[in-house]
Amino acid sequence: MSFDLIIRGGTVATAADTFSCDIGIRDGRIAALGSDLGTARRVIDATDRLVLPGGIDSHVHISQPSGEGIVMADDFESGTRAAAFGGNTTVLPFCLQERGHSLRQAVRDYHAKAEGSCYVDVSFHLIISDATEQVLGQELPALIKDGYTSFKVFMTYEDLALSDREILEVMSVARETGALVMVHAENFDAIRFLTDRLERAGKTAPHFHGASRPIPVEREATHRAIALAELVDVPVMIVHVSNRGAMEEIRRAQQRGLKVFGETCPQYLVLTEKDMEGLNMEGSKYVCSPPPRDKESQIACWEGLQQGVFNVFSSDHCPFRYDETGKLAPNGRTSFRWVPNGIPGVETRLPILFSEGVVKGRIDLNRFVALSATNHAKTYGLYPRKGTIAIGSDADIAIWDPKREVTISQSLLHHGSDYTPYEGIKVTGWPVTTIVRGEVVVEDGRLVGRKGAGQHLSRERSQYAVAEAAE
Ligand code: URP
Ligand code: ZN
Ligand code: ZN
Repeated sequence: MSFDLIIRGGTVATAADTFSCDIGIRDGRIAALGSDLGTARRVIDATDRLVLPGGIDSHVHISQPSGEGIVMADDFESGTRAAAFGGNTTVLPFCLQERGHSLRQAVRDYHAKAEGSCYVDVSFHLIISDATEQVLGQELPALIKDGYTSFKVFMTYEDLALSDREILEVMSVARETGALVMVHAENFDAIRFLTDRLERAGKTAPHFHGASRPIPVEREATHRAIALAELVDVPVMIVHVSNRGAMEEIRRAQQRGLKVFGETCPQYLVLTEKDMEGLNMEGSKYVCSPPPRDKESQIACWEGLQQGVFNVFSSDHCPFRYDETGKLAPNGRTSFRWVPNGIPGVETRLPILFSEGVVKGRIDLNRFVALSATNHAKTYGLYPRKGTIAIGSDADIAIWDPKREVTISQSLLHHGSDYTPYEGIKVTGWPVTTIVRGEVVVEDGRLVGRKGAGQHLSRERSQYAVAEAAE
């Protein structure tokens, strides 16, 4: 029996096991696991390498409308290229419905942007910014049926925030259809109140972004989002959790038996609010929401990852350039209020988690795989097609050199942003080869994949949401 590709001699890890074996790949899928697999058109020697499920980054923003004059730094070509270099084989970007616009049309527009451009597989979450009758009654249920089985709602941001009533309405649609609701939990009124006061006091430098949305802003909204989900009896994912207060809200809900899930991101493990204190506008390079906090918050986020309060670790890749199209907002608007929120991170997510987590002994390799791939697939309706190394699964694989020492630097990266907030951080362990459905996309640090080979994935309902839905 012959294969298209055999990966030979590596140490394979899944979310459950670590073992030595060869992998036989045929027609884009894993066809055999074992030794002496026979012949193949191509053999990759993975001696001294880790062979892991390709990363799934379930929280990225690509080509997202970001306000007048602001341009997101990644389109689908550069965003998915950077993802591949970072050991990812699937990303889940957000398809944003702009207020006053149709959700269905937004999905068509996103497909047009992604079509023919992707190096890795993609699948869109939706963002609901306008919960009209048309959206709630027709567009959203129909799109969920079509495989867009998760959507995000915002409790803050001028053009995105939904009222509690509107959140309850969209959660009810999720309850009926089996979709998973992702929540950006920050209290909009509190942020507006604090922002106005800071500006009146002349406190406009980028680092005041942190003071405009302190921990209670996030903790309160997290509590409220969970309470709203409990009222409707629907599972909910609290995304980009940054601190202990919010983490403990999620833990308490989980202990009460609620289906509440949590996500954290690299910025909450290795950055702090101090990073926003750079000279002039330099601090804007770190402005994201929720903002990076302090060392104690980092410890809390690690606890959340270790103890299962967080089941996914994502990048929240939201790239802008450090120029007038991005972080230096146009028209001389220098207050932190106008700095577009978000930082790049799709390429550095996994090396940071591997190095800070596995190499430093905070998590084991199997937990790394769960947090970086398997749980994303299970949470968002892609499992077992994606997120594991098993016979029949897509051959989405990242081969890692676990000993490679790298100092993260913009000059090494492949995203569209002109900086990385992780500049200078030393990591051990780096993904060297990325394989999507059996095709090598990145090989020993070189791009060899075909632009356009990445496919859009229609998803099943989340494993966690499906039991809740009225069949
Ligand atoms: O600052 C952030 N996180 N920007 C991205 C948009 C979001 O809220 O996820
Ligand atoms: Zn968000
Ligand atoms: Zn985000």
